[in-house]
Amino acid sequence: MRKQQTYQWPQLTVGVCYYPEQWDEAMWREDLRRMREAGIRCIRIGEFAWNKVEPEEGKFTFDFFARFLDVAEEAGMKVIFGTPTATPPAWLTEGYPEVLNCRQDGVPYRHGMRRHYNYNSPVYRLLSARIVEALASHYAPHPAVVGWQIDNEINCETCDFYSESDTDAFRTFLQEKYGTLDALNRAWGTVFWNQTYTAWEEIYVPRTTIHNSTNPHQVLDYIRFVSDSAIRFCKMQSDIVRKHCKPGDFITTNGLFGHLDNHRMMDEALDVYTYDSYPDFAFCMNEHPLQSRNLNDRRWSQHLMETRSVCPHFGIMEQQSGALGWNTRMESPAPKPGQMTLWAMQSVAHGADYVSFFRWRTSVMGTEMYWHGILDYDNRDNRKLRELKEFVQKLQPIQELAGADYEASFALVRDYDNDWDAELDAWHSRLTWKSQEEIFIAAQLAHTPMDILYLLDSTEAAELLRYPVLFYPHGLILTEEHAALLRAYVEQGGTLVIGARTGQKDATGQCVMAPMPGLLAEATQTDVTEGTFVGPADGVVCMDWAGQSLDTGVYNEVLALTGPEATVLARYAGNYYAGAPALTERRLGKGRILHFGGTFTRDTVRAFLDYLNLSEPWGDVLTLPADCELCVRRKGETRLFFVLNYAAAPQTVTLHVPLTDMETGETAEGAVALRPYEVKVYRK
Ligand code: GLA
Repeated sequence: MRKQQTYQWPQLTVGVCYYPEQWDEAMWREDLRRMREAGIRCIRIGEFAWNKVEPEEGKFTFDFFARFLDVAEEAGMKVIFGTPTATPPAWLTEGYPEVLNCRQDGVPYRHGMRRHYNYNSPVYRLLSARIVEALASHYAPHPAVVGWQIDNEINCETCDFYSESDTDAFRTFLQEKYGTLDALNRAWGTVFWNQTYTAWEEIYVPRTTIHNSTNPHQVLDYIRFVSDSAIRFCKMQSDIVRKHCKPGDFITTNGLFGHLDNHRMMDEALDVYTYDSYPDFAFCMNEHPLQSRNLNDRRWSQHLMETRSVCPHFGIMEQQSGALGWNTRMESPAPKPGQMTLWAMQSVAHGADYVSFFRWRTSVMGTEMYWHGILDYDNRDNRKLRELKEFVQKLQPIQELAGADYEASFALVRDYDNDWDAELDAWHSRLTWKSQEEIFIAAQLAHTPMDILYLLDSTEAAELLRYPVLFYPHGLILTEEHAALLRAYVEQGGTLVIGARTGQKDATGQCVMAPMPGLLAEATQTDVTEGTFVGPADGVVCMDWAGQSLDTGVYNEVLALTGPEATVLARYAGNYYAGAPALTERRLGKGRILHFGGTFTRDTVRAFLDYLNLSEPWGDVLTLPADCELCVRRKGETRLFFVLNYAAAPQTVTLHVPLTDMETGETAEGAVALRPYEVKVYRK
């Protein structure tokens, strides 16, 4: 069982990110006054301002932020202080070039951007510890300070590290993990292509190779190593900050980024987790070939689900308030009227109790001068400030919500080993991301609130049993612990749905010499006799499920029953395996396990949701059109229904029972019209 988060916001709170060092001091008071007037109660500062405190090595000056904190205190503003390690000063990188992270070919990343350091440089760890100690010991006692943010967006910009310190630390990591070179050689299958290591010094973080194709088992361990390094770096800082924190203050960091076990980081180093939500990324980063454009308008809900899995009552450290853009990349449109509020409410609907907008005023200088904040360069009141005030107003009547749980009807299961394996294994990748996306889309269209649940070392069956149904689409890496856990979930009453290629690999990422679904084969009473990608000449391969013809996706496995309790629910209707079982079900203990040989499409997922009684779970309360998302948050007996209209057009929602419209306080029933981008919150 995971430990509970150790901090929760006592009330829904609105904040903003502010950079006192980027503006004339004469502006501070007026800025803070205007923030307070708009309803902002907390600001985050300091996360890039190392030089303001240590302008020269070992010379500390605390006046600047001391003055600012006093002004904040006077203005009644609370402060989250960021540790500045994401941007080492020029004196540091020049004096100690070994702190720099490197490209895979060993060329260092130079000063001028951010996050150009590596976590394992002993000098960087030392100098980071020293600045954090200096900051925390001076500023944590200040009454305005209520929390700390460690670094900034750990593993953002790049989540790959190739410096010499990383290679040194990687060797230590591997020695601790494997003990002997023999064990490592076995785990990495180094007999293949003559990669056998005869000394630890022969091992490096993955280096440039032909086709950039490196030993997959090594790369999997390398990603685990990067995650471990980032967590240790974060914990080193939070241990220091914690010594100086006032009781009740919290430590957080803002995520979510790759090659990082965010759950472990949360459990070992943080009190609460925050996320940076920029929904427009879904539109300006569409180059990912697997990302269909469908439902991009609410794709960020998937990330909010992931954040909720890390920390159920999270905060948003950076909430998009304007167009996104660097001077070198990304040209996004400005949010339309209503969209800023919609996105902020999307965060709240998914579990955020703190929403802090990025940033108070658009920077007039630097790489991010097109990453727009609330105010524009001219500093006048504007539409976005008006919208922020409206958002604050919208939160007033739902203050009781702070700490309310998100109520999901089922969960999508993930785990870090498979996430990372799917990143480096093209065959795995093609199945996993697509199926996850299609499950999300189907749940959206069926208005079925869902969670994401990570299988962790600490996970127990009781945590799984919070959900009547779990989809674990393509758990290629299946360990004995996870197989036992999933089986226990089923035996105790859960319904588990698994898809193609489940159980193909062990924890090293090597393929297992046993029939699939491997360690779950006994539970499913099935066997995979063969499997194939569906080629361009195969057309769409469908299965026939109780008269419905459903696309079985990009990869198909031919199933066979191996035991008397399994039954066939659907058979393939095309390709050379027409007539063979495509979907089976076995009742086991108090639950059941469904084995699907294909990959998921929104239509098949919809059929699963219908079969499992999960479509429109709130259909007797309200029905929504496809352009609207439904989220449910619950505290005790109170349930709040969030209806979010992502469309530029008005939508009609039908309320089948009388509900309280939280904004007006009046009872509503029947057909209700939502304006473009409007959000309604109802209480039952
Ligand atoms: C991130 C960072 C911020 C800012 C924004 C915009 O989310 O945390 O410092 O850079 O992106 O680029």
